[in-house]
Amino acid sequence: MTSLVIRPASVRDVPSIVEVRLGALTENEVSGFSVPGDNPYLSVESLLEIWDSQNLLNDGCEVFVAELEGRVIGFIVYNMKSVDDNIDNIVAAKEEQGKGVGRALVEYLEKLAKSRGFSVITTDTTENAEGVPWKAYGFWRKMSFEDKGVRLSTEYDFKVIPLTKNLN
Ligand SMILES: CC(C)(COP(=O)(O)OP(=O)(O)OC[C@H]1O[C@@H](n2cnc3c(N)ncnc32)[C@H](O)[C@@H]1OP(=O)(O)O)[C@@H](O)C(=O)NCCC(=O)NCCS
Repeated sequence: MTSLVIRPASVRDVPSIVEVRLGALTENEVSGFSVPGDNPYLSVESLLEIWDSQNLLNDGCEVFVAELEGRVIGFIVYNMKSVDDNIDNIVAAKEEQGKGVGRALVEYLEKLAKSRGFSVITTDTTENAEGVPWKAYGFWRKMSFEDKGVRLSTEYDFKVIPLTKNLN
């Protein structure tokens, strides 16, 4: 994807971000892997409610989008202040998955984190009650995020899998 651009999002991208998220995953699919009903990316109204200014959410997270020929086809959310979950969210549009959008978004954040003096970048995914990892687990491993075998219990049936990548 030679003309793929990664750039900071703006509030004007909110409808596209929601569209990408809604098209990429069904609520049925994520059931058992995430907190039920707790997702501001599922409607324009709820995402606007937590949007602060520029590309910032009101919890300090920064949003970046992947744009191809003027169309938003993915987004990533970076939480610089978190120790164990820098990459708070990442979604590539359903029809664009498997074409390098996710890799481009993560590599962009890796460069950004490095330019800010960080030597490690973190994220997490989950496994369900049967111990089956969420389908993006293989993506993170492919992107060289390390799974140290830690599984963190939650108040729900799923467990959190912390993932870490050394940037040096
Ligand atoms: C996870 C996600 C962002 C990956 O984006 P993508 O654009 O499809 O991934 P890419 O095409 O950039 O893939 C990068 C590499 O990872 C590999 N990969 C992608 N998804 C994979 C998977 N599920 N399992 C194993 N490898 C995977 C690709 O083959 C590719 O390898 P290569 O560079 O050697 O060819 C995308 O599948 C998505 O939006 N999923 C739904 C949302 C989601 O689950 N987010 C993560 C929450 S933890």
